Amino acid sequence: MQMGIPHFLAIPFPVQGQVNPIMTFCQVLANRGCKVTFLRTEFSHKRVKDKQEGSQIKFVTLPDGLGPEDGRVDVMKVLYSIKSTMPSLLPKLIEDINASDDENKITCIIVTMNMGWALEVGHRLGIKGAFFFAASAASMASCYCIPRLIEDGIIDTDGHPTKKQEFQLSADLPKMNTADLPWLSLGKSFFTDQLVPELETMMKLGEWWLCNSSYDLEPGAFSISERLLPIGPLMIENESNQSSFWEEDTTCIDWLDHQTPQSVIYVSFGSLAVMDPNQFKELALGLDLINKPFLWVVRPGNDNIAYPDEFQGAKGKIVGWAPQKKVLSHPAVSCFISHCGWNSTIEGVCSGVPFLCWPFFSDQFLDKSYVCDVWKVGLGLEKDEHGLITKEEIRKKVEQLLGDENIKARSSKLKEIAISNMEEVACSSKNLEKFIKWAK
Ligand code: UDX
Repeated sequence: MQMGIPHFLAIPFPVQGQVNPIMTFCQVLANRGCKVTFLRTEFSHKRVKDKQEGSQIKFVTLPDGLGPEDGRVDVMKVLYSIKSTMPSLLPKLIEDINASDDENKITCIIVTMNMGWALEVGHRLGIKGAFFFAASAASMASCYCIPRLIEDGIIDTDGHPTKKQEFQLSADLPKMNTADLPWLSLGKSFFTDQLVPELETMMKLGEWWLCNSSYDLEPGAFSISERLLPIGPLMIENESNQSSFWEEDTTCIDWLDHQTPQSVIYVSFGSLAVMDPNQFKELALGLDLINKPFLWVVRPGNDNIAYPDEFQGAKGKIVGWAPQKKVLSHPAVSCFISHCGWNSTIEGVCSGVPFLCWPFFSDQFLDKSYVCDVWKVGLGLEKDEHGLITKEEIRKKVEQLLGDENIKARSSKLKEIAISNMEEVACSSKNLEKFIKWAK
């Protein structure tokens, strides 16, 4: 066995938006000759266990402390249960992993947000630690700057804005509105009990804060701290999906194969956003109005929503979960109606697809600013006086977007730039090498 290769233990918080990018990251590390062990909760493991055949990554599990009857829909409940269950179990797991391969003991633990406790466990065992941030570097920067925001009177110590205003963390970063600060939608106790202590752990024990981003995509964000390191956009050719929590409906790829190039509107709001029933109806009718083929992801499990009686959907296909990266890179897709989660944003950018932005919460408003105001590769959907995005607004903006040759050209150009960031000589690739060397 080869000596001295780094051995990473990846520990993501078990939501799709964090598991997917760190899994891609782990595949990239494995492709570069590193050893990778990936910790899943037992519940997540059951959801995805069939998809690990032939993987270079070893999977291990721990219980999250909840029973099988808990659906894991309440993310805060999952978070607090994990924190009271896993820290006492992790040392033994690490001991077992190390005992099974004496020459390649774990050298570095990589966690996503909310899993900082694992770096404390690692620190006690003498193992290095790094954070992998599943959102934009700008969003990370806004969290990092919390003490400054408090000092400048922009937010109070509970994280609430003192007034509604625009501000800029640095001259190169998009303007932010205090109403859109990423933690506001997650509640006061999340800010004081979770986010602030997590950031303290990050400062103390996370030697690197890795972002699935690049200097080209977010030129202003990385000057905030030297530890903030862009290593993206992470991409793998013919990536096998080893992390999907829902069964991918691959029939949509055959369906796309039969559509005209650049004709299909892809509609997806990620893994967490829940749409209000009235808004859902309006979207359905809006898609009918556009009179173009659409592929719409409607996640199973939301019994609250119902299609309106008038909805025909004749030109569309609705699936419960799509192989999103494959869909976005399919030549039939013309645009992406997206909630602007960072993963969807990066995936859309790397596919050169223009966006219609429909942010729901947290960092998604900031991602919308990147898409619409900084990169100028999309348009925003505006709510009416009742807080509704109407069917007419959807139709109007899709038509405007598809008729805008400048946006299309910029989307193609941005795709080229983004992809070139991962070439061997590019900064993201060099950062990755630097990180791997450090972890040895
Ligand atoms: C969460 C937060 O909500 C988001 O704001 C943050 O930036 C990342 O974490 P989520 O809402 O799930 O993520 O959105 P997103 O970041 O876009 O991640 C969704 C992932 O699921 C993407 O990798 C996407 O490719 C995948 N996906 C989505 C599918 O594979 N199929 C689908 O049908 C829909």
